[in-house]
Amino acid sequence: MKKHENKVAVITGGNSGIGYGIAGELLAEGAKVVITGRSQNAVEEAEKTLGPNATGMVANQSSLTDLSELADNVKNQFGHVDILVVNAGVMHMALIESVSEEQFDEIMDINFKGAFFTLQKFLPLLESGSSVIFILALSATQGTPNRSVYSASKAALKSLARVAAIELAPKGIRVNAISPGPFSTPIFEKSGAPAEVLAKFADTISQKVLLKRYGEPGEVGKLVSFLSSEDASFITGGDYLIDGGMSINFS
Ligand SMILES: NC(=O)c1ccc[n+]([C@@H]2O[C@H](COP(=O)([O-])OP(=O)(O)OC[C@H]3O[C@@H](n4cnc5c(N)ncnc54)[C@H](OP(=O)(O)O)[C@@H]3O)[C@@H](O)[C@H]2O)c1
Repeated sequence: MKKHENKVAVITGGNSGIGYGIAGELLAEGAKVVITGRSQNAVEEAEKTLGPNATGMVANQSSLTDLSELADNVKNQFGHVDILVVNAGVMHMALIESVSEEQFDEIMDINFKGAFFTLQKFLPLLESGSSVIFILALSATQGTPNRSVYSASKAALKSLARVAAIELAPKGIRVNAISPGPFSTPIFEKSGAPAEVLAKFADTISQKVLLKRYGEPGEVGKLVSFLSSEDASFITGGDYLIDGGMSINFS
């Protein structure tokens, strides 16, 4: 029997990048997977390529109305949720002096406020034995230039993950976090950073990542698959780095 046979998984932001990679791994292990995103085209395209056990639902993580509707739709279609992966996120790369209020609000609304209320709206659908995973970032704990607000949004999420692990343990729900280092996804181009900033960043990666490459989204998917399975039944409240050794490299 596959690891996630008959389980229902919801992955916010599953139409692209890491979320799409997580969806692929959970589907391969037998789960029924709901993916979300704001772009209807991208959601429909991903639903098609992921196959018949994937369901796409358009929902903006920064809208509480959308989140309520999403939870209602999942409840009506599947009844409950076994695996909730709070993954949707955006990044802007800018020095503190040039961050606009609009950028600040967008990042905090999606990455933190939206993530918080995703958990809140899905709580009634999570039963004993279910698992919640927050996708943070290495920059939640490490200083990274040009990412002040993004890093703070992920640090806030790290704190939320710990409190949620404590509050949900009596209900038999495990809560963990994953902090990816650099992964090859569209997030960097979408960040609006100038080409020279991205080139400098790519250069830093090639020097700092011990394994000398970007991670692939499916590699986060495999970690999510493990953490949300029975194999991880004594694991809650953790934050797992997946960064090719970048964070320990001071050479
Ligand atoms: N790539 C990396 O190196 C890296 C490193 C550390 C952490 N992460 C984290 O990994 C997560 C996924 O990022 P990624 O690299 O896979 O980037 P990505 O390819 O740009 O994927 C981001 C996903 O989030 C969705 N999304 C963004 N804003 C949303 C909103 N308001 N409501 C609903 N969905 C929304 C996007 O869909 P729509 O655009 O259609 O809404 C897309 O599916 C993020 O939380 C990011 O912070 C990434």
